[in-house]
Amino acid sequence: MSIHHLRFTVYLPITIHDLLMRTIVHLSDLHFGHIDPAIIDPLSTTVTELKPDVVVVSGDLTQRARSEQFKEAREFLDELPQPQIIVPGNHDVPMYNLFARFLQPLDKYRRYITEDLEPFFADEEIAMLGVNTARSLTIKDGRINEEQVGRIRERLCPYGDQVTKFIVTHHPFDIPEGHAREADLVGRAQMAMEALAGCGADVLLSGHLHVSHTGHTAKRYKISGYSALVVQAGTATSTRVRGEDNSFNVIRVEHPHIEVKRLAWQPDHAAFSTASIENFVHTPDGWVRLADGAAAGIN
Ligand SMILES: [Fe+2]
Ligand SMILES: [Fe+2]
Repeated sequence: MSIHHLRFTVYLPITIHDLLMRTIVHLSDLHFGHIDPAIIDPLSTTVTELKPDVVVVSGDLTQRARSEQFKEAREFLDELPQPQIIVPGNHDVPMYNLFARFLQPLDKYRRYITEDLEPFFADEEIAMLGVNTARSLTIKDGRINEEQVGRIRERLCPYGDQVTKFIVTHHPFDIPEGHAREADLVGRAQMAMEALAGCGADVLLSGHLHVSHTGHTAKRYKISGYSALVVQAGTATSTRVRGEDNSFNVIRVEHPHIEVKRLAWQPDHAAFSTASIENFVHTPDGWVRLADGAAAGIN
């Protein structure tokens, strides 16, 4: 009997649980041109080993929007798994070259990173849309407009309640308590939240502050019956940290549960390790934080 006549049955250790659960790696504020080079290889190895369903990068890929910096960012992205949902940040718009800043603000971003300024991913479990909040008129602050919110509704509203819906922006819809600078919030956030309340986003992923944070929109935006979960990633690779180590988030979704795990850089070990784990469950009244050990559904 030749080898072709032998039948092999391979039992893979895949369960229903694995099939339903989605893993999202959420990186932000890479700032190529101002990075700690020791982090790059361990970061791409760690992300690859996590076997994410989607890799998110929520803006500020470069320090000064220079071609060299975009090329380095591109090389790094090429090492990471696909699909990738990437949005630009304020640092990806040229600052000093006024011609480029106002007439071709995302020219290099489009050339080296992606032409797609509203990247979209969806399957049976999650739907995710990236939205550009970087603007030429402001150096640092960001904004969302009515056309963008209209397109978010078009893309996300058709999905039912069983699909967890994500929006990725650079500028955040919420800031940690005690954070003094309200202008860091995305401009026109109230308008966006009201328009999205009916069908829109369950989870808002962002960066910009170089500080990690989770929270609920219900605290800031008083919209009856609506609360989105806000997940902020710190900076993964920039040397400009704000009182915490470089880090990134690993988000596991299995409707109606979400686990947000923060992996922080340990320079002494040249590795990322778990710094915190938070669990939430989606209820008709919005997201409820689960106490440690009560995180049924995701383990
Ligand atoms: Fe940044
Ligand atoms: Fe930023």
